[in-house]
Amino acid sequence: ADHVRNKLNGSSLFVVSNREPYTHTRQDKRVNVTVPASGLVTALEPILRACHGTWVAHGSGNADAETVDIHDRLKVPPDDPRYTLRRIWLGREEEDGYYNGFANEGLWPLCHIAHTRPIFRTSDWEYYNKVNKKFADALVEEIGSEEHPTVLIQDYHFALLPRMLKERLPHARVAIFWHIPWPNAESFSICPWQRELLDGLLGADLIGFHTQAHCNNFLHTVDHVLEAKVDWEHFFIERNQHRSSVLPFPISVELVEDRFDARNEISAEEERSTLLLELGIEATFLGVGVDRVDYTKGILERFRAVESLLERYPKYQGKFTFIQIGAPTRSRIKRYVDFQVEVKNEVERINARFKRGKWKPIVFQNREHTHQEVQRYYRAAHLCMVTSLHDGMNLVAKEYVAARQDERGVLILSRFTGAARELHDAIIVNPYDVESTAEAIAQALEMNVSEMADRMRRMRRSVMEHNIYWWAGSLIGQLCSVRLRQNRTNIS
Ligand code: G6P
Repeated sequence: ADHVRNKLNGSSLFVVSNREPYTHTRQDKRVNVTVPASGLVTALEPILRACHGTWVAHGSGNADAETVDIHDRLKVPPDDPRYTLRRIWLGREEEDGYYNGFANEGLWPLCHIAHTRPIFRTSDWEYYNKVNKKFADALVEEIGSEEHPTVLIQDYHFALLPRMLKERLPHARVAIFWHIPWPNAESFSICPWQRELLDGLLGADLIGFHTQAHCNNFLHTVDHVLEAKVDWEHFFIERNQHRSSVLPFPISVELVEDRFDARNEISAEEERSTLLLELGIEATFLGVGVDRVDYTKGILERFRAVESLLERYPKYQGKFTFIQIGAPTRSRIKRYVDFQVEVKNEVERINARFKRGKWKPIVFQNREHTHQEVQRYYRAAHLCMVTSLHDGMNLVAKEYVAARQDERGVLILSRFTGAARELHDAIIVNPYDVESTAEAIAQALEMNVSEMADRMRRMRRSVMEHNIYWWAGSLIGQLCSVRLRQNRTNIS
């Protein structure tokens, strides 16, 4: 945390994202505060807590000024206020056009190879512009007369914001971090507004992705579409006398050191038996998956691998249960509504085929879980499955590793995640290959304790060395150096 503060060097931090870190919802007279299921929120929250900056986000709750102390601008976390949350409120049409429409029916499937066709509507595009402008106005207001603001814009909801901001605040250091993959130039070219999106992004001084492969795809896309100088040696783009560096910064979680955590006094075995009791099922081996119910996550493929395991290794019938924690998500989008039904049907089909007595192969917990609840499942499970069809990073993989202070448990990880580039000691799978994924489950269940501990120790070391503070420190450090270089060029 000190490392990040040093990199900021006295400059104030402004973070922008669509998703807010805390949502206030009112039920009758009570206000509930929840943390939304979002890898982005998990990653950024510790940074804001350490740096006391301002986080500008879309207000998604329904609590009003009377029930939440200060409606638009408040101090959070609720129990230990450290930074400012500035909320931007959107009307139903704005939210549908900008968020559900352009961001999630257009850009999300455009950037993920999950074979869902993107939908581009002109009206969504117009709302996307309008909402980006609304965020730019709020940022300019928040930044006020701040002399050296550092602005970290997050994700595909705000491709136009870097340029809008730089035009009004040329002295601001602006980075945008793209949390999802960037496709190849040919795939990206189907977007009718590809030029405008690239132009907006190139307003930033620094454009970050999780992997070098995504940086390369971005550089190729710019090369194909715009008149710009693309420097493949130093990974920057120069256009209209402005330079944008394009670099990888693999995001991470908060694992700091192996310090004693009282909650870990409970052994995996004890945690397992209490969880099974609560769930009212009997099983010897547990697997866990934690995802938003999103078609990019490979949830159906994962269930089919469990089915195949039970076919290939009948000894696991009556013994192995897979618990899927599935947070409902983006429920105003048809593809998500349909997918939710597909997932439920698949669980029912597989359970009907194998279940007996108090045992069943799959438990589907289709609701939001708190961080603490999820930790219990991580600690209780013999294995965790992350089988995304395509994923920028996937922080569930790193959270599972962070939770296993006991150096037990096996991670099964899709090769199509950014995390697979770092966590070489996971069992790496192609989720489209159901039989091999079933074999990976068998391998995990049969792995001896010393191999398991060796693998987990190495993965924990890798996450600790490259934790979220390292991510933010590198991003902010790079952003400062980019500006300095640029200033020198201008002077000479
Ligand atoms: C991904 C995106 C985030 C987003 C999260 C949850 O991780 O990169 O920007 O917050 O999904 O999705 P939601 O639409 O609920 O914010």
